[in-house]
Amino acid sequence: MNIHQIDLNRLKEFETPFYYYDLDLLNETLDRAKAAADKRGFHVHYALKANFNDKVLGLIQSKGFGADCVSGNEVQKSIDSGFPAQQITFAGVGKSDKEINLALDHKIFAFNVESIQELLVINELAAKKQVKAQVSLRINPNVDAHTHHYITTGLDENKFGVPNSELEKAASVLRECGNLELLGLHFHVGSQITDINVFKSLCVKVNEWKNWFEERGTTIKVLNVGGGLGVDYHEPDTHPYADFEAYFEVFDKFLERNAQQEVHFELGRALVAQSGTLVSKVLYTKSGVKKNFLILDAGMTELMRPALYQAFHKIEKLGAEPNAEELNYDVVGPICESSDCFGKEVPLPVSERGDLIAIRTAGAYGEVMASKYNLRDEIRFVFSEDL
Ligand code: LLP
Repeated sequence: MNIHQIDLNRLKEFETPFYYYDLDLLNETLDRAKAAADKRGFHVHYALKANFNDKVLGLIQSKGFGADCVSGNEVQKSIDSGFPAQQITFAGVGKSDKEINLALDHKIFAFNVESIQELLVINELAAKKQVKAQVSLRINPNVDAHTHHYITTGLDENKFGVPNSELEKAASVLRECGNLELLGLHFHVGSQITDINVFKSLCVKVNEWKNWFEERGTTIKVLNVGGGLGVDYHEPDTHPYADFEAYFEVFDKFLERNAQQEVHFELGRALVAQSGTLVSKVLYTKSGVKKNFLILDAGMTELMRPALYQAFHKIEKLGAEPNAEELNYDVVGPICESSDCFGKEVPLPVSERGDLIAIRTAGAYGEVMASKYNLRDEIRFVFSEDL
């Protein structure tokens, strides 16, 4: 159920702040994504880092998605949530020995390896266990994702992946490592990508590197193109679903591959963002010298994206009368930091203590990035089915 359809008095029964998850919307989003991928024979691993709330994860697992993990704990969480090990990928520039061993023990589908040194370490640890680790080599394709610089990952200046200049060496290391099996290549250029041409550019690079390896006699079975599909933070109700059809179609059209080659994706945000809303209460209103402040009981500790990336989230007053008089507010939280601000000069219906405020499109990188700073409460959540 959309947050605006819920009876305000019912919502007020829950202690704020809390994340509200619209499971109907999540369900429909997952079905659309899965159908668009299945139609083209594509494999989608859900990037757990976007949201690992148990119920959300359970629903995603039940739809047959794989899991994309970036820590040993995420690998374990995926296993515990029922994702088959053979559908789990493990990425990240800094995998510890403990995490690698855990993933080896679970016999996961693939390590997305980010450096030559990491190849050698996985080989050594796999040798000790007398197993073979399946790996995909993460290549830094130097494609500009045209997104916020903090969430751009595929440029030469970023720490991710093996740079082009080292690929020759990586290929020879792979040939020498008896306990590694090269599955294929992995790419990820950034997050919240709304320009579909970025994915087209990525396809061009993937084709180039696939050919490069094949010309050297290496079989490439898996092409993992990462995640990054963006969502509409400005109009969540007009565009509640990302355009999965258009997204997958670009890869279908522009990725060169043979019948044996699999295409894998790691989507996070586009699957979960629109189904989450942070619901908060107005604690105080304050008219400063130059500003009107709306002081909420949620802060950067519950939703860090605005403070960390100056990210935009649509802010709405719940239960507002149509055509109500509006004021421009700086919507801030209670945390002792000036960056604890959800939006500046936000036009909102005149609000008062006790009003409920919705901060939309918070289902991805919201709850999972919550912190205990200022010794805040554990984050709370409410599901549409609880109402
Ligand atoms: N695969 C890899 C290797 C990644 O690094 C990421 C995200 C994904 C997949 C999933 O990307 P998505 O489909 O969600 O765009 N906290 C930031 C986003 C960080 C993304 C990190 N990597 C934010 O709140 O915008």
